[in-house]
Amino acid sequence: MGTLRQKAGTGKRRLKNAWRELQPPPPIEQQDTAAVTERAVTPQKFAIESAPATERIHARLDASDVEAIAAAANADDTMIDFPVPPGAPPRQVRMTDAWSKATGIERKRLDLVLGAHYEIDSVLEKTGLLTVRPPEEVHAMTHSALGAGGAFYQADLVADGLASARAPIAEGDNILDFGSSSGRVTRALAAAYPEAKLFGCDPNGPAIEWATANLPGIDFRVSPNDPPTSYEDNFFAAAFGISIWSHYNERLALAWYDEMWRILRPGGHLISTTHGAQSVAFYGKLGLRSAQQLTDIKAALYDTGYWYAAEFGKDGDWGVVNDEWGTSFVSQEWVLDKLTPKWEVAEYATARNEDNQDVYVLRKPAA
Ligand SMILES: C[S@@+](CC[C@H](N)C(=O)[O-])C[C@H]1O[C@@H](n2cnc3c(N)ncnc32)[C@H](O)[C@@H]1O
Repeated sequence: MGTLRQKAGTGKRRLKNAWRELQPPPPIEQQDTAAVTERAVTPQKFAIESAPATERIHARLDASDVEAIAAAANADDTMIDFPVPPGAPPRQVRMTDAWSKATGIERKRLDLVLGAHYEIDSVLEKTGLLTVRPPEEVHAMTHSALGAGGAFYQADLVADGLASARAPIAEGDNILDFGSSSGRVTRALAAAYPEAKLFGCDPNGPAIEWATANLPGIDFRVSPNDPPTSYEDNFFAAAFGISIWSHYNERLALAWYDEMWRILRPGGHLISTTHGAQSVAFYGKLGLRSAQQLTDIKAALYDTGYWYAAEFGKDGDWGVVNDEWGTSFVSQEWVLDKLTPKWEVAEYATARNEDNQDVYVLRKPAA
């Protein structure tokens, strides 16, 4: 008991240090001083809902486009799959209900999804969104109609993370979707930021094959289970891995952080989502992991900062077989101990990814 308390105390002290270790942002315009002050108090600005990619695409629509989307959705009585976390029981909703219940930024995201789903010409022309959807046998995080056009929530998370680190996506930037699957996030970012060059890689051959054939303008490549990749040193302005570092064992997690460091340019950023303490609560609430396992995970987070289980079995994750790819949880202390000072923690937000995974924006220090 004493040891646990001591460790928890150390964890808290380290957490305070985490805030201190946040690197000061590069100088920004005078008029943005309110944001700087706010950020100096807390790094959680990133946790405030912000949707730069969705807003950027949606701004290209006019009232008649939005009316056309609303008319199609309001007339659509079909039952559709509602995207659920992996392992959760399937859930269906009526399209009209999904539509009428969405408000604010969710409604704007739905406008884009349904513009693609209903193939509304004026929407497709103005947004550059594509209507193609991977077939059921090709890996994708969702095959639902509610995933048509791309993953706007995750695209927003990436764009917001970079903006929050004072490195918004800029013209000519090379940006890598690491572990892209069939490209749901990359395609949304490509539509929002046509001035950047998007890349995606993943060891899942069929997903990359489908993305290459169906998502023109994005460079997709099959990557190995273990580093290195085929990209040159210092090539990317930014890379992101959505639900990637939530799967590696400790050795492979570190090896891939090193590889990302190699291919990012100095001052470049990596966005990484991981399971953390809040994920324990998330899986507990949904009943997706046993109480005993969640207790073990909590203990491991206190003891070593890392928990891993190889959960995919002999057939692997959609055919990608690798004992070092399963499910992992990490503490903020682990991230600080293992990754800094080689990396700077430019931004961090607990459970920023769907109230589950923590999001880190790591910076390769400028040379
Ligand atoms: C949970 S999915 C997330 C996919 C994608 N990032 C998204 O959000 O739609 C995990 C992805 O990681 C890929 N993956 C498996 N092993 C990997 C590895 N060693 N390195 C990178 N990605 C890997 C899987 O094939 C799968 O596409």
